[in-house]
Amino acid sequence: MNDNRIDALSPGTFALDGHEVEFGPGDTILQAARRAGHYIPHLCWHPDFAAHGSCRLCTVRVNGRSGAACTVQAASGQDVESNTDELNTQRKTLLQMLFVEGNHFCPSCEKSGNCLLQATAYQMGMDGPHFEEFYPDRKVDASHPDLLLDLNRCILCGLCVRASAQEGKHVFAMGGRGVASHLLVNSESGHLADSAFSLTDRAASICPVGAILPKRRGFAIPIGQRRFDSHPVSQEDAA
Ligand code: SF4
Ligand code: FES
Repeated sequence: MNDNRIDALSPGTFALDGHEVEFGPGDTILQAARRAGHYIPHLCWHPDFAAHGSCRLCTVRVNGRSGAACTVQAASGQDVESNTDELNTQRKTLLQMLFVEGNHFCPSCEKSGNCLLQATAYQMGMDGPHFEEFYPDRKVDASHPDLLLDLNRCILCGLCVRASAQEGKHVFAMGGRGVASHLLVNSESGHLADSAFSLTDRAASICPVGAILPKRRGFAIPIGQRRFDSHPVSQEDAA
């Protein structure tokens, strides 16, 4: 245990798919990999916020054992596998489950082309939903003058929860259990209009999918110029 603590506080290197990756004190595997220009798929992780560990897209094998790269600390001598057929097949299954659990009808979603879920599905070669669609009928909260919340597209990544908490507003929270888990709006009525949410909040622009969208700004970016039109998500993330 003491050895692990020393590792966590010291820089070092580990192997990622056969490449040597340097890490700094306190780095997770995902942080170090990304800094070194290696893409590990992820949806609920964002460099500005604490890891959430919920989407499991970043699952890697560390010395043969599964772990979430966004939460496992880097340590000297680790042998990390990420870009393997087995792991990418599992990631595709996770993506397919996210797609069928919500109403992710990309052709009618204005986030298409700018959506991390869609771009990651392209990256993982997801060419069909595979599972039976749930077709949920969750509420769409259009009460706010400037922002729309469509829970049928929410992947429960918790980024809006963390962003709003960091701003001291705590507009969002997670509620429910199992398949009934859902995003909550912290206002007496439960409606966005009665919360402190504002268009200028970080939480208003952090959603990686099309669940939180600004009003009156749909389809503003021409096809061909959208975020993931010109490059796959793997290249962007290895910035
Ligand atoms: S609304 Fe968007 S940012 Fe918030 S939990 Fe859902 S997917 Fe994540
Ligand atoms: S990015 Fe690691 S669990 Fe979501």
